[in-house]
Amino acid sequence: MQLSRITSMIEPFALQLDLAAGTMAGAESCIARRASDMRGYYADESALERLIREQQDPVHYETFESPVPEEYGQVKFCISKLYPGLVGDEYFMTKGHYHQTAETGEIYLCLRGQGLMMMKTAQGVCNWQEFAPGRLVYAPPFWAHRSINTGCEPLISLCMYPGDAGHNYGDIRTEGFPKRAFQRDGKVAIV
Ligand code: NI
Repeated sequence: MQLSRITSMIEPFALQLDLAAGTMAGAESCIARRASDMRGYYADESALERLIREQQDPVHYETFESPVPEEYGQVKFCISKLYPGLVGDEYFMTKGHYHQTAETGEIYLCLRGQGLMMMKTAQGVCNWQEFAPGRLVYAPPFWAHRSINTGCEPLISLCMYPGDAGHNYGDIRTEGFPKRAFQRDGKVAIV
C-alpha cells in the first residue's frame, strides 16, 4: 500500500482518557486479535491450540484508535490493551511490527499493568524495556516493537506515532524476535 503524503485539514478536538481504567472515550476498537490470530508466534503451538479450544478463542489484545487520519503530518494515538495470560509458559504478547514508513518512531506511555516492550532491528540487535504505570518507552525509528504482558492484569498503554507510520507485520512474522519472555519459577525469564 502506498501511503499518502497529503495532509488533510481537520478540526481540532479533545477527548477524555480515563488513566486509571486505560480507556479512551469515543474510541473505536480498530484491531481485536484473538488467540487464533496468533498462530505461528508462540514457541508452544500446541499450548496455543489448547487455549483456543478450551477458552473459546479469547480476545488476546485490542487497540482503541483515535479519529486521526493516517497521513504525513498528523499525530496518531491509540490505547493498546493486552490481556494477561500464558501460552504454555510464554507470556501473552502482541504480534509486533515494524513501521511501514520505517523511519518513524513511537512513544508508549504505560497506564496500567506490568510488562516489557521487546524491540529489534533488522540486523537482529535486540533490546527490551520495562512497562509499569507512568513509565514511558521510546521505540526509535527502524526498531520493530512488541508488547509483552508479564503481569496479572491488562497491560494498557497510550501509543503516539506519526500519522504516516503505518504497520508492517510481514517482515517481523518472517524474522521473529531473537528473545522471548517466559514465566519460569514464578519469575520473568527472557530467553
Ligand atoms: Ni508501532
